[in-house]
Amino acid sequence: MSMSVAVVGASRGLGLSLARLLLASPQINHAVLTCRDPSHMPKDILSHPKTHAFPVSANDEESVASVAKYVKTHLNGKLNAVVHVAGVLHDEQVYPETSITKVKRDAMMHSFEVNSVFPAMTAKHFLPLLKAAAASPDDSGEPVYAALSARIGSIGDNRLGGWVSYRASKAALNQLIKTLAIEGSRVKPRPVVAVGIHPGTCVTDLTAPFRKNVDPATVRSAERGAEDIWKIVATASAQGVSGKCVAYDGTIVPP
Ligand SMILES: NC(=O)c1ccc[n+]([C@@H]2O[C@H](COP(=O)([O-])OP(=O)(O)OC[C@H]3O[C@@H](n4cnc5c(N)ncnc54)[C@H](OP(=O)(O)O)[C@@H]3O)[C@@H](O)[C@H]2O)c1
Repeated sequence: MSMSVAVVGASRGLGLSLARLLLASPQINHAVLTCRDPSHMPKDILSHPKTHAFPVSANDEESVASVAKYVKTHLNGKLNAVVHVAGVLHDEQVYPETSITKVKRDAMMHSFEVNSVFPAMTAKHFLPLLKAAAASPDDSGEPVYAALSARIGSIGDNRLGGWVSYRASKAALNQLIKTLAIEGSRVKPRPVVAVGIHPGTCVTDLTAPFRKNVDPATVRSAERGAEDIWKIVATASAQGVSGKCVAYDGTIVPP
């Protein structure tokens, strides 16, 4: 089966490694790739014949909608999988807080915009394309919406506190995924799966300031992280992991 897959946040880190993996796969014939400025994507990715690259920003719903519109008119209106990778832990607007007393309103709003609202907008505009794949006789299997979450978003697993904005915004993302899984289970003739993914600690810009605090034996490359992400997406099913957050090694992160 030939598949069309979208990666939201394909410019660097895990998203870029995932894009490379998909472009090299004979099973994928269209890769819809987004980031804020696609001109910053590596040339080999941009010029690949399977690539469809678009500018998308977390604070611009119309940019998400216009990609969905393109898929509708140019790629038979369907996607087999959507992987929302984009997320923020630190940038010019936010940095992990050590205590609730350090939380700044604008920084927290920014975390929620990128980590919770943005994946919701991706789900809103791309769900019809996943539903179209679920209904298509040319496709088999259950279409998948996946979003990169983090173990730190688990309420049950919270033993340390801190990192308030990132933690709370990923917890909100996990609730979105559960809600989407319930909605997806009602899609006929095949359900749409929704799954969160905890990729473990991988070597990317996001983890750069914090990796010194992590056991080096547990740190993995972005390429390895992307392989684990795709394994989870490619095997996800409504009866199995839908609505859950799955770690890179296949274990379930407690809600
Ligand atoms: N790396 C890890 O160890 C780790 C661990 C747990 C969870 N995660 C999760 O995995 C995902 C990917 O992480 P990563 O390590 O690959 O991060 P990264 O290297 O920092 O890449 C972040 C991605 O998010 C996009 N992004 C950031 N802010 C954005 C905004 N305002 N609007 C649109 N796109 C935006 C970036 O696009 P631009 O190039 O346009 O900025 C980029 O594609 C994140 O959701 C993160 O929370 C990662």
